[in-house]
Amino acid sequence: MRPPTAPNAVRRAEYRFFDQRPPPSALLDEVIEGLTEEPKRIAPKFFYDERGSRLFEAITRLPEYYLTRTEMGLFDVCLPEVRDRFGEGGCLVEYGAGSTVKIRRLLEELRPGAYLPVDISRCHLERCARTLHADHPHLSVYPMCADMTAPFELPEVVAGLDKLGFYPGSSIGNFEPGDAQAFLRQVAATLGAGSRLLIGVDRKKDIGLLEAAYNDSAGVTAEFNLNILHHLNAALATEIDPAGFRHRAAYNEASGCVQMFLESRKDQSARVDGRIVEFTQGERVHTENSYKYDVGQFAELAKGGGFKVEASWSDADAYFTLFLLQAE
Ligand code: TRP
Repeated sequence: MRPPTAPNAVRRAEYRFFDQRPPPSALLDEVIEGLTEEPKRIAPKFFYDERGSRLFEAITRLPEYYLTRTEMGLFDVCLPEVRDRFGEGGCLVEYGAGSTVKIRRLLEELRPGAYLPVDISRCHLERCARTLHADHPHLSVYPMCADMTAPFELPEVVAGLDKLGFYPGSSIGNFEPGDAQAFLRQVAATLGAGSRLLIGVDRKKDIGLLEAAYNDSAGVTAEFNLNILHHLNAALATEIDPAGFRHRAAYNEASGCVQMFLESRKDQSARVDGRIVEFTQGERVHTENSYKYDVGQFAELAKGGGFKVEASWSDADAYFTLFLLQAE
């Protein structure tokens, strides 16, 4: 094992939970606002309750969902090169703690001194962080419960460490391009000048392949999309009948994104915090977009977000690219 590289300080491994989660009342206001707009929408951050996180993990294993296995296939070549540049003993900041499969690979190959996962789903975050801490006794683990789409500050304990951000799964594609750029600018500010970000980006490709990835034959993606309604009903006292909606996903070539909707099966009304919201038959509630990028297009976006491209790795089919960015 190599010693930690300077200037990262050697410290005893510890576990500390940091809570910057927004209060539920702000979340309910956001839902009401989205459902009283035309066209109606529900913010994708409501996908990830316990069941939503489990369903998403099932999506990542679907034969049609090529993203996860293609991205992980790039790790063999990418991670040793990232380690050569980043060294050991720094702080790995993961944006959105999903399943622990990817991060385990990074922890093994990069050997950071601290791991700081940021996620809005508190129980899921705590469970993942505790397991990883138990499995890596020499690693300090600092889970941070926060809405990563809003500014937050890194805790003082990691102030002296080099930072490497990790944002896998092409989740950057779930932002509108302008918001993606603003998000990257915020990441650059949070991590600091000279810090790096390893980010996964799904590429533009054959429309049939793109649409199949979001309309799997086993119906898991449909369950995942509909779960947003179960979550709202449970968390925020809305009464929207999930059985009254169906999953829709299609690639919009003009905007370069797969668009996800819940389509109302009939004319119906639902209770949302004391008010009644009407849905007509065939009306679509927008839940998420998944933008796909060409390499040059994403490099431009990153530049506007305050990062330069240090390196990138793509698969032979050009389905997916991992970019190593550096904050300027
Ligand atoms: N980040 C994932 C993606 O864009 C999210 C996702 C996958 C998703 N399948 C979905 C979101 C279905 C809504 C509905 O690929």
